[in-house]
Amino acid sequence: MHSTPSPEHVIDEINQQMMRSSAAVEQYSGPEYLLAHERAAFDELAAEVRGQPILDLGVGGGRTVKALRALSEDYLGIDYSPEMVAACRARFPGVRFELADARNLVTVPDASIALAVFSCNGISMVGHADRLAILREVHRVLRPGGAFVFTTYNRDSPDATSGFEFPEFRPSANPARLLVRAYRWVRETAVRVRNRRRFVPHEVRTAEYAVINDRCHDFGVMLYYITLADQRRQLEAAGFAPDAPAFEHTGRRITDGSRLDSMLLIARKPR
Ligand SMILES: C[S@@+](CC[C@H](N)C(=O)[O-])C[C@H]1O[C@@H](n2cnc3c(N)ncnc32)[C@H](O)[C@@H]1O
Repeated sequence: MHSTPSPEHVIDEINQQMMRSSAAVEQYSGPEYLLAHERAAFDELAAEVRGQPILDLGVGGGRTVKALRALSEDYLGIDYSPEMVAACRARFPGVRFELADARNLVTVPDASIALAVFSCNGISMVGHADRLAILREVHRVLRPGGAFVFTTYNRDSPDATSGFEFPEFRPSANPARLLVRAYRWVRETAVRVRNRRRFVPHEVRTAEYAVINDRCHDFGVMLYYITLADQRRQLEAAGFAPDAPAFEHTGRRITDGSRLDSMLLIARKPR
């Protein structure tokens, strides 16, 4: 007899499958810019982490590698997608990358890391119990006083309640171009509809968080949303210092809440 897979397991399977796809690897392998809130956080931490061990969780195609290695060459990038790790190794020969899961950082010793980073809402790709496991692991590997910089989706943003969206259609006066665009629009719409129908039944909504079938990757992923207040409570329960400083992606420090879809926090392991 087959037992029903847990919501954690289903969410994990959907997201891992997407993160192993060639489309996702290609999407994350090009850029190397930093967003304004990442720049603000790294600038704030630069003096204390310069030359110290840095752990880049969910490194993807390596967008943050250059910026973090400019702070310290004692750098390790990990990802649970073998395809992302292969892309990073090809893109940055000689840099240390490992295939590893942020929920179980077996090769990283206790209290060995000065700065851990999980950028681009990577921590939002796992369900609730797995998110708590990541916080426990990051807390374990950080040195006392070490910092965990991560971005997460904001449940106070309109994105947390938005439903299905059709792809944008850009008409053209050129008939050949119009035909190509119409064909692409139909194909993309079909992918979105198919993903939506398969994945929306796995959405989870609780008082503390929601895991929703998000429009990212054509509704091909399940993403965890939480408010800033609940995220801070969750961090504190995992042993981090209270009132983690937070930023919007514009780089503005959040003091009075935010309605933007993603927020960056700097969580500290107490000394
Ligand atoms: C949204 S992508 C961001 C990639 C990169 N950090 C960037 O900013 O462009 C999230 C990455 O996290 C990875 N990831 C998600 N959950 C993970 C986990 N539990 N352990 C390791 N990697 C994970 C995915 O494979 C993916 O490469």
